[in-house]
Amino acid sequence: MSRTVAPATRVTGDVTVPGDKSISHRALIIGAIARGPSYIGNLSPAADVGATSRCLEACGGRQRTFGAARVALEGSGPGHGLRSPHTVLDCGNSGTTMRLLAGALSGHDVEATLDGDESLRRRPMRRIAEPLRAMGAAVDTSNAGTAPIIVSGRSHLKGITWEMPVASAQVKSAILLAGLSAAAPTTVVEPQSTRDHTERLMRLCGVDVVTEGTRVTLTPSTPNAFGLRVPGDLSAAAFFLALAAARPGWRVRCDGVGLNPGRTGILDVLSDMGAAVEVTEGEAGPEPVGGVEVRGSQLTATTISGDLTVRCIDEIPAIAVLATQAEGTTRISDAAELRTKESDRIGRLADGLRALGAVCEPTADGLVIEGPVSLRGAHIDSAGDHRLAMAWAIAAALVGDGQSSLISGAEAVAVSYPAFFDDLERLLSAHP
Ligand code: S3P
Repeated sequence: MSRTVAPATRVTGDVTVPGDKSISHRALIIGAIARGPSYIGNLSPAADVGATSRCLEACGGRQRTFGAARVALEGSGPGHGLRSPHTVLDCGNSGTTMRLLAGALSGHDVEATLDGDESLRRRPMRRIAEPLRAMGAAVDTSNAGTAPIIVSGRSHLKGITWEMPVASAQVKSAILLAGLSAAAPTTVVEPQSTRDHTERLMRLCGVDVVTEGTRVTLTPSTPNAFGLRVPGDLSAAAFFLALAAARPGWRVRCDGVGLNPGRTGILDVLSDMGAAVEVTEGEAGPEPVGGVEVRGSQLTATTISGDLTVRCIDEIPAIAVLATQAEGTTRISDAAELRTKESDRIGRLADGLRALGAVCEPTADGLVIEGPVSLRGAHIDSAGDHRLAMAWAIAAALVGDGQSSLISGAEAVAVSYPAFFDDLERLLSAHP
């Protein structure tokens, strides 16, 4: 499916984004292995989260939905809850589904094959297979270290200490989920701190998880059942916030979004580029939540590296688009992981930005972007990558030659944000 997006004349309004995708996956998985029934509100409508839900059902994790975003889960405890599925578990496009489920299943007496679409079959899985094997599970990947992966789990794993070579919340979470049914504590050492949604939800469920700097130690136990309202997805909001940042007089507000410190790098970047970013903190809960308002201005270039790159890794496509509108040279580095996301985001971003008239060089681990340029309308491909589809939509809204852009493969937005184009259209046509 292709979508045509015209340049925006003015951007001002409020957007309510869907529930957070990362937290929704974790709530479904931990709910399936918790002791007793759990309740989730504002579950993400993302196709990725749907994949997690269906895989868990195939493993005996019972769920009841109430309306679109409320789910009750019948949990029954780690080591007991999940059984071998009769079919291959189809993780679709979702790396989080595959990696976190492989971890959870490793701690159960089950056999399961996890597979996914073409994009997921290209993504690296040794990073989870190796620690899970060290814990005593059998985890086979293809010779290339990719899906399909076959997991033969055990309800009594070994506790391990694992030094992660790459910063990945998915790998950390897979190890911690397996660690729930290990015979001794498990420690994960991260090269840089990543989003800690798994740790927070486990703590809400009474699991002893201690974080000291970049070391996370979990003492095995059965999570208690929980009730959780999932905060709005800051990574979804990021596209609208970045768009608002681009021009003086533009403004977007998103209320009720998650403000996990592992995710708020985008707010630091927008503010560093010169946009006005106002955060209104909401009520304290297992995750920080609040309202974010961004007002645009004349932007200046910025540098994104190290910890900051990790804290905005999913927002780099939106940031790269914005960098074309900022005065100076924006340098994004330490982002080699982007080459192994739903697409090679470094290569694809460079190609797409150039098609739009941007001055941009890909590097081994990032991008160098010169601005400001007046973008021109173009035909741009999403490469089956939801975050590229959304990045191209905001780029199209920023085009300076009056021409509309055609975004092919726009249906990819359903992977994280099915109503993205409806919400964008509403924002672009609102003139309060
Ligand atoms: C995610 C972690 C990140 C992120 C992905 C979601 C998660 O991936 O890019 O969109 O929910 O844990 P990595 O763990 O591969 O860095």
